Amino acid sequence: MLVAMLSRAMPSGAYADPSSGAERRARVRALAQPHQALRGGLLPALHAVQDALGFVADADVAELAEVFNLSRAEVHGVVTYYHHFRRQPAGRHVLQLCRAEACQACGGDALVAAAERQLGCTTGQTAAGAGVTLEAVYCLGLCATAPAASLDGRLLARLTPERLATLLATLEGTPGGTA
Ligand code: FES
Repeated sequence: MLVAMLSRAMPSGAYADPSSGAERRARVRALAQPHQALRGGLLPALHAVQDALGFVADADVAELAEVFNLSRAEVHGVVTYYHHFRRQPAGRHVLQLCRAEACQACGGDALVAAAERQLGCTTGQTAAGAGVTLEAVYCLGLCATAPAASLDGRLLARLTPERLATLLATLEGTPGGTA
């Protein structure tokens, strides 16, 4: 049984703003400034940018470097170190499959293989035409009910390849999907 454990709603339309112009730069600056004086403030600022704008663009890296008085290389290093941060817009849906130990021990590899096969893309990519971005995450806090996943922020526990296939088939644009 799929178990929805928690809903973490994503802002509507948040993943459809690839702009890199003055308006985006101003938004990035406004999102970062509350964290500017904090020790380690870059990390919450990156989260704020991704939550609001969907991804961290190259131009955002430059803007954040200025705000935090860091080099672009330093900001780039942080962004690329964490799997959580996207460098380009996600699809309409985001499927995150847990790749950490407990989920791997409970069939996580089979889930990844099934998702990649059904979507026709590899982890880290957005399925062509399907509007589903497939991502790896490293522990969703559901280790006791592994394997776990998150679909558009909705947590799923004890997922099986069969149930995942049913779920994906309901998403708009997914091969075989109807919604
Ligand atoms: S290891 Fe997958 S939820 Fe913790």
